[in-house]
Amino acid sequence: ITVDWDAVTAEKGGYEHFMLKEIHEQPKAYRDTMRGRTNAEGNKVILPELNLTEEQIKNIRNIQIVACGTAYNAGLVGRNLIESLVRIPVENDIASEYRYRSPIVTPETLVIVVSQSGETADTLAALREGQANGAHVLAITNVVGSSIAREANSVLVTLAGPEIAVASTKAYTSQLIAFTLLGLYLAEVRDTQSEPEVAKILAAMQSLPEQVEVILAQKDAIKAYAEQIAEHHHLFFIGRGVDYAVAQEGSLKLKEISYIHSEAYAAGELKHGTLALIEEGVPVIALATQESVLEKTVSNIKEVKARGAHVLAVTHEEHKNDLLRSVDEVFVIPQTLPLLTSALSVVTLQLLAYYASLALGHDVDKPRNLAKSVTVE
Ligand code: G6P
Repeated sequence: ITVDWDAVTAEKGGYEHFMLKEIHEQPKAYRDTMRGRTNAEGNKVILPELNLTEEQIKNIRNIQIVACGTAYNAGLVGRNLIESLVRIPVENDIASEYRYRSPIVTPETLVIVVSQSGETADTLAALREGQANGAHVLAITNVVGSSIAREANSVLVTLAGPEIAVASTKAYTSQLIAFTLLGLYLAEVRDTQSEPEVAKILAAMQSLPEQVEVILAQKDAIKAYAEQIAEHHHLFFIGRGVDYAVAQEGSLKLKEISYIHSEAYAAGELKHGTLALIEEGVPVIALATQESVLEKTVSNIKEVKARGAHVLAVTHEEHKNDLLRSVDEVFVIPQTLPLLTSALSVVTLQLLAYYASLALGHDVDKPRNLAKSVTVE
């Protein structure tokens, strides 16, 4: 008997690629990142690791979220979450830009650095810049013993487990969970959300892992669509609010591993230039999960449709039939609160990037020119 076995194949646990395995590990990563961080009644978040007194939290005047790549994109969602839950002004910065723009940092600034590996040189330099200006630096990282974890003033660990594929998936979504917990915690201390409201959000978060499974079960349909877009050289992602933030991650994921050029646009901004690039057959992926701006997004969808775009919408079941009047295809995500849709819609886009890369025969786990962790500035 010969056994066709090697260590790497074993580590992939039956999946063809690490990326696909890691996409499927997201329900567990969500649960692990939430575990032990809420009270028994489910109406409070407990984060002693923040290492900030109530007074320090009450004194925060502004927040700067600094990161690179996918972690930067998670920060875009983080801003949305924190601003809506806590009403503290938040800025997002790309780590390699941060130091050189002389950021306005005071001791009342909370700097949040986000890094899966905890070793990204630009992010580490941003952390030091924040500290040099007297700010408290909180790191959201997946690696406990990393340089960033060691140097930060406090650490909020994501429990995604080791991420091997260069394109980040479960680390990103775990960062979204961490930002939600952080936002809720700050809201409790600053009294910007009522206890029932916090309880409602926490209950909805508990359902996310199962809801991710529902999206994973749609993978054949997503694969079929990915095979169609693999024939194109350019495409667009559009959305408003948190959908725009997710669009940016969807676009990055696709570029990283399929090498198809794509751009993410705030849906309402298209008409100020990008609309010129829309021609017959260009795929446009429209994220339309935010009820409050749905009508506006639909009118932007009509703008691209009128110019011949082939539009796929990602939305909730309840809007499917309405949207099908304006788009060519729809993928649905399970019903959740508007604040939490990113943790679901992005999974559709991860699978899309994965299957597009696969269709094109690229090395999914090790895309050309990219490294998992970039330790040079
Ligand atoms: C590299 C990786 C990206 C990652 C970025 C930031 O460029 O290829 O996938 O998002 O670094 O990495 P970090 O470990 O700091 O989150």
